[in-house]
Amino acid sequence: MKKRILKTKLCNMLGIEYPILSAGMGPTLIGENTGAPVELAVAVSEAGGLGVLGGSGFTVDELRQAIREIKAQTDKPFGVDLLLPKSLAAEAESATSGGGPVEMPLKDVIQAIPKEHLDWLNKLIEDMQLPDVDTILRMDTTTMRPKEAVDVCIEEKVPLFCAGLGNPGFMVERAHAAGMKVLGITGNSKNARRMADSGVDLLVAQGHEGGGHTGRIGTMALVPAAIDAAKSVPVLAAGGIGDGRGIAAALAMGCVGVWIGTRFLATDEGGALDINKQVIIRATDEDTRVSRAYTGKTLRANYSKFHDLWDQSGLAPLPFPTQVIISSYLLSAFIEAGKTDHVGGLAGQISGIINEIKPARQVLEEMVDETVDILFRKIPDNVQMG
Ligand SMILES: Cc1cc2nc3c(=O)[nH]c(=O)nc-3n(C[C@H](O)[C@H](O)[C@H](O)COP(=O)(O)O)c2cc1C
Repeated sequence: MKKRILKTKLCNMLGIEYPILSAGMGPTLIGENTGAPVELAVAVSEAGGLGVLGGSGFTVDELRQAIREIKAQTDKPFGVDLLLPKSLAAEAESATSGGGPVEMPLKDVIQAIPKEHLDWLNKLIEDMQLPDVDTILRMDTTTMRPKEAVDVCIEEKVPLFCAGLGNPGFMVERAHAAGMKVLGITGNSKNARRMADSGVDLLVAQGHEGGGHTGRIGTMALVPAAIDAAKSVPVLAAGGIGDGRGIAAALAMGCVGVWIGTRFLATDEGGALDINKQVIIRATDEDTRVSRAYTGKTLRANYSKFHDLWDQSGLAPLPFPTQVIISSYLLSAFIEAGKTDHVGGLAGQISGIINEIKPARQVLEEMVDETVDILFRKIPDNVQMG
């Protein structure tokens, strides 16, 4: 097939061929699995897009190692996505001595779990005869050590730093000095304005449809509002984009590119467990739910009985990341006990049109092909123009 051309100014900014980024996806909260591992980032960058490593599930040492593995496997630009808990980034913003986000020791996070939550957890373990699982050490991740993790990204001169949570404005100057670009992610126009004012190079506007943490505004309404709010900062669309139709729509609305999660998760290289990939393949557009059960923040995942158990508990969700200790423990125990109907991985509403696991390169090339057909050559049957 003839190689297609699809370029926007994002391609010049980042030195890439196509304006398509695979989204930063951290652990699917079960075991050691990561949503966007080295393999996916490399595959997408090698195919001409920009692959983003989901760094939130790694320890700081593993993050450095993963970055070096990507560099060893491709000389194309890539990104790293970290979650910067909002409170931490806010402290950093107000710090007077040039400090970054403060550290959050693991023992403090564990100690913050109230007795009624522990009682509920222990009762479930007993009633459902769940096995002991060792997830606690995995919690000592970059999310608990954001300052060190940001330092690693700057030392390694990661081409694109992406902040999945919190405003990365505090590190823009240092990143620029290292030759990096900085991307912020927002779910509303207020934060788009705030991040644009703090100096980020790029913004992702992620709508309610998207997998993982999600806001209340749908992509169709959010994108134009975020573009207006971001003024001169270029915007990428995210949430509910799974093929060339979504990309063409995003470009038509004025975006410079797209940030795609669920579609790239359901690829050969995507880091989800096979059981989660199969759930995405089977899912319809109605089969995801937003819940605070996973991280304490609103998060979209494929429906499972874990949602029901949490709803029935009547408990208040704990602040991020304390709630993650509870959900990770339970989801790992469900998997080990073979209770697969209690396990739904993070995924977006676009699961409904994903019917096949393919190599990431194929997904990207088909998307480019469809986008070019729609925008350039093929006038849709339902449109008459003069
Ligand atoms: C499995 C999974 C894990 C995710 N983890 C993160 C994360 O660690 N950091 C982040 O910024 N966004 C995360 N997200 C959100 C994605 O970056 C992206 O915004 C979203 O997937 C876009 O919507 P889509 O799934 O409809 O493509 C995750 C999404 C999924 C599906």
